[in-house]
Amino acid sequence: MKLWSKGFEPDKMIEEFTVGADRELDLKLAKYDVQGSMAHIKMLESIGLLTKDELTTLLAALEDIAQMIERGEFTIEPGVEDVHSQVEFLLTQRLGDTGKKIHSGRSRNDQVLVDLKLFMRDELKKTAESVQHLFDRLQHLSEEHKDVLMPGYTHLQIAMPSSFGLWFGAYAEALVDDMQFVAAAYNIANQNPLGSAAGYGSSFPLNRTMTTELLGFETMHYNVVAAQMSRGKTERAVGMAIAAIASTLGRFAMDVCMWMCQNFSFISFPDELTTGSSIMPHKKNPDVFEIMRGKCNRLQSIPNEIALLTANLPLGYNRDLQLLKDIIFPATAELRSCLEMCDFMLAHIRVKDNILDDPKYNYLFTVEDVNRLALNGMPFREAYRTVGMQVQNGEYTPTKSVHHTHEGSIGNLCNDKIAKKMQAVMNRIR
Ligand code: ARG
Repeated sequence: MKLWSKGFEPDKMIEEFTVGADRELDLKLAKYDVQGSMAHIKMLESIGLLTKDELTTLLAALEDIAQMIERGEFTIEPGVEDVHSQVEFLLTQRLGDTGKKIHSGRSRNDQVLVDLKLFMRDELKKTAESVQHLFDRLQHLSEEHKDVLMPGYTHLQIAMPSSFGLWFGAYAEALVDDMQFVAAAYNIANQNPLGSAAGYGSSFPLNRTMTTELLGFETMHYNVVAAQMSRGKTERAVGMAIAAIASTLGRFAMDVCMWMCQNFSFISFPDELTTGSSIMPHKKNPDVFEIMRGKCNRLQSIPNEIALLTANLPLGYNRDLQLLKDIIFPATAELRSCLEMCDFMLAHIRVKDNILDDPKYNYLFTVEDVNRLALNGMPFREAYRTVGMQVQNGEYTPTKSVHHTHEGSIGNLCNDKIAKKMQAVMNRIR
C-alpha cells in the first residue's frame, strides 16, 4: 500500500528498484521524521488545520513512535516505501482519519529534506566532537614530545631537524582548517526547508517561522525552490567537510605507516595493536593505518560522487536525489570510525628518542651551522658556501644543537594559539 495509491499497485520489480536501500537507510531518519512531524502539526493547529484535541492525540501517538524508535523497535515493513510512509501508516492505523490529516501542507519532498537537514546537523556535531578529541590528543602528544627531535624531509630526502612536537602539532592545526568546512556545512544544513512542500510551496497559510523555531534551525531556506535545491547542495557541503578531514587523516595514516617501517623506526605501537602475517613470523604490521588510509582516500571521492550524481539535474525534485543517502549515510559513519580509531591508537603510540644521534642524519644540521656562521657576522651566501664545501669535501661535522624560537617552530610551537583557533571554529557549530 502506497501513500500515493490510486487503486492500482505498481509492479513488484519496479517497486524494489525504486525503493532501493531506503527501507534500511531511512531508519537513520526515523527520529528526525517524527520531530519534523511534531513541529508540522503544531503549526497546522496554530493555523486552524487541526483542532487542539487532534493535535494532542497526534502528538501522543508520535511520542509513542519516538519511543519505539529509541528502543530500536521501529522497522519499515515490507511493502512500505520509506520512513515517511511508515510513520504515517502507524498513525492512521492507530488514529484513523486524524492520522491522515498530518500530511496537509507538506510533501515527502520537504519531509525528507527536513529529516536530512536535522540528520546532517547532528552528524556534523558528532563529527566535530570526534575531531575535537583527536585534536586534543595530538596537541597533548605534541607538548609531551616537544623536545624529541626527528628528521624533517623534503623530496623525501633528509632536510632539516624536525620534532615530534611539530609533527603531532601540525596535524592538530590542519584539523582546524578542516573544521572550517565542517562549520560551513553545518551552517548550510542549519536552515529549515519545511513548508516548501513538493518544491513550490502551498496554498495553506503555513507558518514557516514557527516550524523554524520549533526545530531549532538558525534560519530557513526562504525561497521554496531554493529549499528544494538545497537537496544535494547540502550533501555536497557535508561531503566536502568529510573529504577535508579525510585528506588530513589519510596523510597522517601514511606518515604512521612510513615511520613504523624498520628503515625509519621512529614510532611503534604495542604488539596487540599490530597485525601479523600468515607466513612471516616476525611481522607486526600497521594494518589499522593502512585501512584508515584506504578509507580516507575513498572518502575524498564523496564530493565527486555527489557532483556526478547531481550534475545537470533539472530544477525541482528528481528521484535521483534519493541516492544521495546511499553516499552520505555510510560516509559520515566511516569517517567517525576512522577518527575514533586514530585517537585510540595514538593513546598507545611510542616515539623513539635520540633518533638524530645516528650519523646518517648529520646533514640535517647544515642549515643550523650556516645560520650560526651568519649570526656570527659572516654574510649568508659565504656561510652557505663554507658549509657546502665542508660537505663536498667530506669534512662536515655537525654541531648538533637546535635553537628555533620563532612562532610555530620547534622551540615555540604555539599550541595554545592553535587551540584558540580551534575553539573559535568549534563555536560556529551549535
Ligand atoms: N525516498 C524519497 C527520497 O529520498 C522520498 C521522497 C519521495 N518523493 C517523491 N516525489 N517520490 O527522495
